[in-house]
Amino acid sequence: MVEDIETILFHEQTILSRLDELAAQLTEDYRDKELTVVAVLNGSVMFLADLLRRIPLPLKIDALSVSSYHGGTESTGTVTFHQDKLPDIDGRHVLVLDDILDTGLTLHAICEKLRRECRPLSVECCVLLTKRKGRAAEAEAKYAGFEIGDEFVVGYGLDYDERYRNLPFVGVLRREVFGG
Ligand code: IMP
Ligand code: MG
Repeated sequence: MVEDIETILFHEQTILSRLDELAAQLTEDYRDKELTVVAVLNGSVMFLADLLRRIPLPLKIDALSVSSYHGGTESTGTVTFHQDKLPDIDGRHVLVLDDILDTGLTLHAICEKLRRECRPLSVECCVLLTKRKGRAAEAEAKYAGFEIGDEFVVGYGLDYDERYRNLPFVGVLRREVFGG
């Protein structure tokens, strides 16, 4: 598994230090607010667990599952929701947590749907990574851990065809692995 990684971009300690900063900012911004964190599965699991343990607020956690890649390394452009019931966030402040902002299609579709169908007080996005490039959709993350170039990364929740999520670091996948 590790032999499929070309370079490590962020070691576990680097990620956790950055999460300390992000958590401090979120704790400040959501103090005295009714917050629900909506995690986008499965990519945000490590991020969710490590980040939320650093936020000493009485928040609620919910989750959503969507797919936009369908096994490849490029977004297909259509976002499919995998549940019938959306989170109960009526009258609450919402922070949508995802692993990475690439084209922005996924987060844009999620935020729009929550705003349209669930009557939240506010919806903001928080991602571990953002790719430094133009976005197809009007989605930006107010909170982001690190900015990276336009390369395909895995680990710390991020997958290629559902694998590599359990690596403790974020690294660039060797091109041979996905035939790029
Ligand atoms: P977007 O809709 O193009 O912004 O893509 C967002 C989703 O695509 C993320 O939630 C990830 O699941 C996946 N994704 C985008 N870039 C990468 C990457 O470099 N590695 C792994 N997954 C990625
Ligand atoms: Mg994915």
